[in-house]
Amino acid sequence: MPKFCRVCEKPLSEFMSFGEMPIANSFINIQEKKNQYLYEMLAAFCENCFTFQLLNVPKPKQMFNENYAYLASTSKEMQEHWGDLANKITDEFNFDKKSFIVEIGSNDGIFLKHISEKKISHLGVDASSNVNEIAEAKGVNTLNAFFNSKTASDIVTNFGKADIIFSSNTMHHIEDINEVVKGMDLLLKDDGTIITEDPSLKEMIIKNSYDQIYAEHMYIWSLHSISSLFGRYKMEVYRIENNERHGGCSRYFICRKGKKKIDQTVVEYMQVEKTLKLNNIKTFLNFKKNVSNSKKILRDLLFNFKKNGKKIVGYGAPAKSTTILNYCDIDSSLIEKIFDNSSTKVGKYTPGKSMIPIEHTDSFISYKSDYTLLFAWNHKDEILKKEKNYKNKWIIPIPKIEII
Ligand code: TMP
Ligand code: ZN
Repeated sequence: MPKFCRVCEKPLSEFMSFGEMPIANSFINIQEKKNQYLYEMLAAFCENCFTFQLLNVPKPKQMFNENYAYLASTSKEMQEHWGDLANKITDEFNFDKKSFIVEIGSNDGIFLKHISEKKISHLGVDASSNVNEIAEAKGVNTLNAFFNSKTASDIVTNFGKADIIFSSNTMHHIEDINEVVKGMDLLLKDDGTIITEDPSLKEMIIKNSYDQIYAEHMYIWSLHSISSLFGRYKMEVYRIENNERHGGCSRYFICRKGKKKIDQTVVEYMQVEKTLKLNNIKTFLNFKKNVSNSKKILRDLLFNFKKNGKKIVGYGAPAKSTTILNYCDIDSSLIEKIFDNSSTKVGKYTPGKSMIPIEHTDSFISYKSDYTLLFAWNHKDEILKKEKNYKNKWIIPIPKIEII
């Protein structure tokens, strides 16, 4: 039975299985080990609309609920990143008292907090009630809901249409993505702008950062695929900006067709993606080879250290670590513990087969390990600076397995 693209409904080309996976952000207690939700993580590419996507994803409620473990504000760098964007867009779009901005997937209020401080009308929509409570405590107005066309019409009825619809690291989370864009179409003012920032397919392919892939990241967007998706609703990307957050993200500025001049950045980036053949299945078959090589190198390295009596720990338990641990079959016999500073993860275990205990980063230095695998490799500069008193070696898993 062929599987069909969630964006354009054409048959998909399935190219890789990562084996059995738990839900990436479902850090668990020891007694929950046997009751985990597991799925086979299968990656596919649509040769019609160029969307990279996962098959078999869990139901939204299984991923986004009152136990959602990811808190965006754990990183100082990310706090600054979203603070800068809030300042930039308030200037660029001349926000005033009548402006209204809606964020889809507002998490712990890391972005809207700055908008709220500027006294601009806003609403953060998030399906996880625990993160909404944290955001509300920062003065952010929230709505506990999944964003879809129904939620969008309710927002229009209660608050009016939006000048800006913002989402960061959310467009890749939502299976029924056409419902989201339909909702955006209903909610957006005629001359409004959608700004969405997500991990970039180009960066994933270049860095071989397969740890970007997990059920919550069921799409890895590119300019090609985002343009196909929004094109279905007569909208287009008019500007693109790129940054190194989360291992490489693209920020797309989207308007109704013909409303804004298409920036040169869009023309150039389209060409870059074509040169990298992000519109060709062969690129993904090659990616599959690189990913399985990376698994072999990492396992050989860890087994070798272990054989020589070395103590190995991990640093950072991002959702990404769930993919590395489960795909590479790494458990607590290889990595004794992982240090992380998120209150939602400390005291729990990494999910799936791995079951590695998570402790607070405060006890990292005193634990005296020989090697530390940096799962939060995208925060390398921040973490290495913070942990400058660690005298032993770091293992960096991505983009290239390196020991420093
Ligand atoms: P992220 O890559 O999805 O932002 O997740 C990073 C993880 O690493 C998150 O669980 C928090 C953790 N972390 C630390 O423990 N210490 C740090 O200094 C930073 C930046 C992150
Ligand atoms: Zn498609």
